Amino acid sequence: MSIVIAVDGTAASGKGTLAKKLARHFSFAHLDSGSLYRLVALAVIETGCDAVAAAQAIDLSRAGDAAIRSDRVGAKASEVSAIPEVRAALFKFQRDFATQWPGAVIDGRDIGTVIAPDAAAKLFIDATPEVRARRRWLELTGLGIRKDERELVAELVARDRRDRERQVSPMVAAADALLLDTTDLDIDAAFAAALTLVEPKVGAALAARPRG
Ligand code: DC
Repeated sequence: MSIVIAVDGTAASGKGTLAKKLARHFSFAHLDSGSLYRLVALAVIETGCDAVAAAQAIDLSRAGDAAIRSDRVGAKASEVSAIPEVRAALFKFQRDFATQWPGAVIDGRDIGTVIAPDAAAKLFIDATPEVRARRRWLELTGLGIRKDERELVAELVARDRRDRERQVSPMVAAADALLLDTTDLDIDAAFAAALTLVEPKVGAALAARPRG
């Protein structure tokens, strides 16, 4: 039985960084499920193809491509992720990933609710839109990209609203998710807080797992 840590949360909340660090800590595999929706979005933007067809024939070789990280692709990913057939096409890959040995950390929007409802530990990460926009602004500035911070706040708020209000698998904290607000935490403090929440649950799951 593999052990899953589900890390859901709002856009640019730092959930990806936390998930990566948790995976390294426990020597688990890591999947950024948002990158799947971003790949579909990139295909739609680049070729004008149908989102459902793109999801059904997803090209994972570009998962590390910097092009999927743009805000334009993020917004398009949010749009295509509201299409039920797109979600259905990406479902099996995520479910299969969740069975990896010795465990998997998956970050996204519906991991604790739909992809891995039996996850050993579930986190829901959030921070104020202003703080999330500031972090993104600093990241973009570091890349030499200039963008108005207020515009970033508006984009994040709009994306969260769309993700929260869609009909299928909306972004919502699972009933048994532990909430972590990183507004006043830097990455080291956020990771320490995440570990404090997750470690007892993962420890219990590891202890309960049959050896061999
Ligand atoms: O986590 P991210 O910003 O890379 O996600 C991009 C978009 O993909 C997000 O706005 C909504 C969608 N998404 C989703 O619907 N379900 C997931 N599990 C992950 C992402």
